[in-house]
Amino acid sequence: MQPYIIEKPHLTKNFSDKFLLIESGKGSYVYDKGGKEYLDFGSGIAVNSLGYGREDLAKAAYDQMKKLIHVSNLYTTGPTVELAERLVKTGDFTAVHFGNSGSEANEAALKYARLYGKNKKGPESVGFVSFSNGFHGRTMGSLSVTATEKYKAPFSPLLSDCVILPYNDPESLKTIKYPQNVAGIIVEVIQGEGGLVSLSKEMISALNSYCEKYDIILIADEVQTGVGRTGSFFASLEAGLHADIITLAKPLAGGLPLSATLIPAKVNDLLHPGDHGTTFGGGPVTSVVAMSVLDIIQAPGFLQDVQDKGLYLDNELNKSLKELGLRGEILGKGLLKGLKIPSIEPEKIGQLLNSCQDQGLLVLRSGQNVIRMAPPLTISEKELQKGVSILFKVIKEIL
Ligand SMILES: Cc1ncc(COP(=O)(O)O)c(C=O)c1O
Repeated sequence: MQPYIIEKPHLTKNFSDKFLLIESGKGSYVYDKGGKEYLDFGSGIAVNSLGYGREDLAKAAYDQMKKLIHVSNLYTTGPTVELAERLVKTGDFTAVHFGNSGSEANEAALKYARLYGKNKKGPESVGFVSFSNGFHGRTMGSLSVTATEKYKAPFSPLLSDCVILPYNDPESLKTIKYPQNVAGIIVEVIQGEGGLVSLSKEMISALNSYCEKYDIILIADEVQTGVGRTGSFFASLEAGLHADIITLAKPLAGGLPLSATLIPAKVNDLLHPGDHGTTFGGGPVTSVVAMSVLDIIQAPGFLQDVQDKGLYLDNELNKSLKELGLRGEILGKGLLKGLKIPSIEPEKIGQLLNSCQDQGLLVLRSGQNVIRMAPPLTISEKELQKGVSILFKVIKEIL
């Protein structure tokens, strides 16, 4: 069966002019309008981490929608307060700013870092440092600290005072001329869009000591890695990064739009009513669903299971590489994995992803030539094996 493709819908051209029209989902699978089945090795893009068609999440949303959908931010609701309480307990945080997307979570983090810098170090402390191949979003602020030039060029000028240093090069921190003027450093511990490279131990310790020395707010962008994707609740804590602020989004509410910017007391103490805001962030419906997601992710054994499945996926990928006599590198952690095969040129990756789609497997790209896998955390070993077998059937055809 051919994929059900529609062309030129009335959607902005910044995505594509051709789309696979997906109609429903169940477990680790989605189905297009023509009924073709796809095993989803992408979970959207690392969003549907508990799979599709869940009665428990749907019921939580339905029950809350009947009771109360929205109040203005002049008031709050029980689920919002309860979710915030659960989230601050995951680390050294005092408060949460809820938003609706990863970009918004990072935008808030940058604003808070600047507020802290100006208050504690003076009016010049407004700069941001970020890293090559990093991706932090599409709003003006989050785009300013994103590395990819082609995303930025059409919309420049963006924020000034932003410096992009090479990822994993601790020496590069020494090139910052006025460290006292840096308000915040934003970093991903595994670069989700930028090739699945992990932050090295040396870079982690350099960032920890640099930020401590110059009183810089260290922001871990865990929009893609957070809430269990790598087998730990936070990839940054597990890696030893001493982030002041952590941002979360994609999987937080099981596919509904919700983001969280987790902040420490030293930042929260500087905020006054009206300093920042949002209409929809942290409404009761997304909050109850997020609590159902947390109930599952934080249940005993769940994250261990993600780690075990990550190792199983590594094994399957290694076995298949060996069978085809291919040299390849497996990147990432837990169920955020990258496969880089030097003999597949970047130009062939698009064709590879399309052929996988034709064969009933959805996979993603990261960077130029990394095949990215971020299946639902609830996927079975059998489904992992099936996905890897389709992927390597296509790789064999393409080489
Ligand atoms: C690490 C990271 N930060 C930020 C974002 C932006 O999130 P959103 O698209 O929800 O604005 C993404 C999205 O892919 C991401 O992967």
